[in-house]
Amino acid sequence: MKKIAVFTSGGDSPGMNACIRAVVRTACFHDLEIMGIIHGYEGMINDEFVPLDKKSVSNIIQRGGTILKTARSKRFMTQEGMKKAYQNLKKHKIEAVVAIGGNGTFTGAEEFSNIYPINIVGCPGTIDNDLVGTDFTIGYDTAINTVVDAVDKIRDTAESHDRVFIVEVMGRDAGLIALRSGIAAGAEGILIPESKNDIEKLLKRLAKSRKDKASKIIMVAEGDESGGAYKVAERIKEKYPNYDVRVSVLGHIQRGGSPTCMERVNASRMGYAAVQALLDGKKNVMIGIVNKHIHHTPFSKAIKHIEELNPELLKMMEILSM
Ligand code: F6P
Repeated sequence: MKKIAVFTSGGDSPGMNACIRAVVRTACFHDLEIMGIIHGYEGMINDEFVPLDKKSVSNIIQRGGTILKTARSKRFMTQEGMKKAYQNLKKHKIEAVVAIGGNGTFTGAEEFSNIYPINIVGCPGTIDNDLVGTDFTIGYDTAINTVVDAVDKIRDTAESHDRVFIVEVMGRDAGLIALRSGIAAGAEGILIPESKNDIEKLLKRLAKSRKDKASKIIMVAEGDESGGAYKVAERIKEKYPNYDVRVSVLGHIQRGGSPTCMERVNASRMGYAAVQALLDGKKNVMIGIVNKHIHHTPFSKAIKHIEELNPELLKMMEILSM
């Protein structure tokens, strides 16, 4: 193997740059040529390839976003798009690829390498932490720290005005951001897609706990079946018209910012391990870290986010927050 490429795809996440840096520098250490593909699969189709070297990844480990830019490519899901992408990889003599992204990225990578002879290894880049085969995805730790910081500030207003605040966080299909940041911020309620009918339980609990402490923080994952923070606020107002309820949707603030120390270290380890895996002839696997050790998980398994969360955590949150 003489030449590889790296790209980021799907939603950006803090730590992607640290991962790119590790991939590039490990490749250089092994005397591999390396190219970056701008805008992920879209750039593969549009021939947006740029040569990278040790210097091109200087001073990026601390930066959020991705220097390679990213996109959610619909065209790559078509036979025509994949054909064009493969032609461009061949044109640049790319023999293997490191893909940094989430579910959509790995679903596309697996389909692509089943049709065309190209080895792809993935690094989990998403704030959602919704991949099997790693304790933490790249971006998750920074995102939950951003959320905790924001909720601590909201708490000041909630407490001063005796208000109930509904805070919506990202997580289209997964409630892991809401769960972990909710525990850390001492939230009085957490509504996540993995736990059904949780709004009914919350409505009952609210009245009881309101007697002791009027202010409340309720974390809602955007993918919760309740329909999001505004819907939850409506339900609470319906049942308790005298509560002073406010909504705060944190949005894309969760995706940006300088990665935490843990993020930078994990991302560096995964990028380094991805090049090693390609050198070992591995393909269609996602690199992860489980119990501090590097793991290789087939894409087909990595994309199957577990629906059930540890019920102990939810129980603990209820006990500790009341
Ligand atoms: O996949 C990461 C994520 O941040 C989800 O939590 C969220 O639903 C989605 O991306 C938002 O994507 P976009 O920025 O494309 O609207």
